[in-house]
Amino acid sequence: MNTIIAKAGVDDEHMYEQAAEILRSGGLVAFPTETVYGLGGDALNPDASHKIYSAKGRPSDNPLIVHIADTDSVYELAEYVSDDTKKLMEAFWPGPLTIILNKKAVVPHTTTGGLDTVAIRMPSHPVAMKLIKDSGVYIAAPSANLSGRPSPTTAHHVQQDMDGRIDMIIDGGAVGIGIESTIVDMTGDRPTILRPGYITPEMIKNIVGDVTIDPAITGMNNALRPKAPGMKYTHYAPKGELSIVEGERLVAAERIRSLVAEKRAQGYKTAILCDTENVGLYNDGVCENIYDAGSKKNEITVSAGLYSLLRTCDDIGAQYIYSESFEEGDMGYAIMNRLIKAAGHRIIKC
Ligand code: TXA
Ligand code: MG
Repeated sequence: MNTIIAKAGVDDEHMYEQAAEILRSGGLVAFPTETVYGLGGDALNPDASHKIYSAKGRPSDNPLIVHIADTDSVYELAEYVSDDTKKLMEAFWPGPLTIILNKKAVVPHTTTGGLDTVAIRMPSHPVAMKLIKDSGVYIAAPSANLSGRPSPTTAHHVQQDMDGRIDMIIDGGAVGIGIESTIVDMTGDRPTILRPGYITPEMIKNIVGDVTIDPAITGMNNALRPKAPGMKYTHYAPKGELSIVEGERLVAAERIRSLVAEKRAQGYKTAILCDTENVGLYNDGVCENIYDAGSKKNEITVSAGLYSLLRTCDDIGAQYIYSESFEEGDMGYAIMNRLIKAAGHRIIKC
């Protein structure tokens, strides 16, 4: 398949027309959202969802998020919309919050991975918004990466994974947030966070007064089954072995330097992910591929670049990757959730 690549802002009229036509006829279009790039298909067309699963190489029991452009759409897709759900929609849409509700029959089980619930999100990215409106379809879109690869934050990443596998890629530049939306399940007694993201538990609590976090995603208890099926898969794993080194700033840096020295002496290629302020700690003449992963003081600089850095580690062929911990602050929890998964729970405490 020849994948069309179009840059937003160049010949928009033609681009949106072409993309909308592809979506309406059951094809796949990758597009930017404020979180990560999505791989879009008509959410109500089972053939389109099949195509999404096969383009991504994704297990078909892992449900897709349905993207909408106005709140009325929720009532067409979902069975019951509580007052709390309405409050969340009002507070955070358009934006990086996905809400799980009971689905109506119109949403095919292929889109929901066989579940009777549906994940709905109204993205704030102008390209995503216009694409949904112009096409007139609800767009089912997982992140536009091959299953197991870091989610794409640029059109180039999408191209690396999807060129030749989908009909079109819309290049809208680098995304702003860089990690996927917060998912909140509103089908139970209490709002439950199934995936942490830019919208924090605190922010949700401020609107609806109560929130809990799916215990399967918080800790080390691998026996618990996450309620978001996608959270159970090893995600975002770089090809090299990634470890997170946790500890006081100077102690952790010392440990990373000695781990790197040891691996390099054995002939391995290494990489380091560290806070902007700590880059200088690794200039010892032994460390190589020292990547500034942003500043804990401004977490969006960390989230925005995280997946891209993991891809860079693959591109340079890093065999051992050591990352500092980024656990402070509001979004620190979401960032660490992704990093810990990428590291396959390999954490070195010192
Ligand atoms: O930011 C995002 O949410 C991006 C952009 C493209 O919008 N999309 C995204 O989709 O991250 P994906 O498919 O990579 O992740 C969707 C997650 C999976 O973990 C999936 O299991 C969960 O949402 N999910 C979807 N529908 C669900 C449902 N009905 N119940 C529980 N979890 C669900
Ligand atoms: Mg994904």
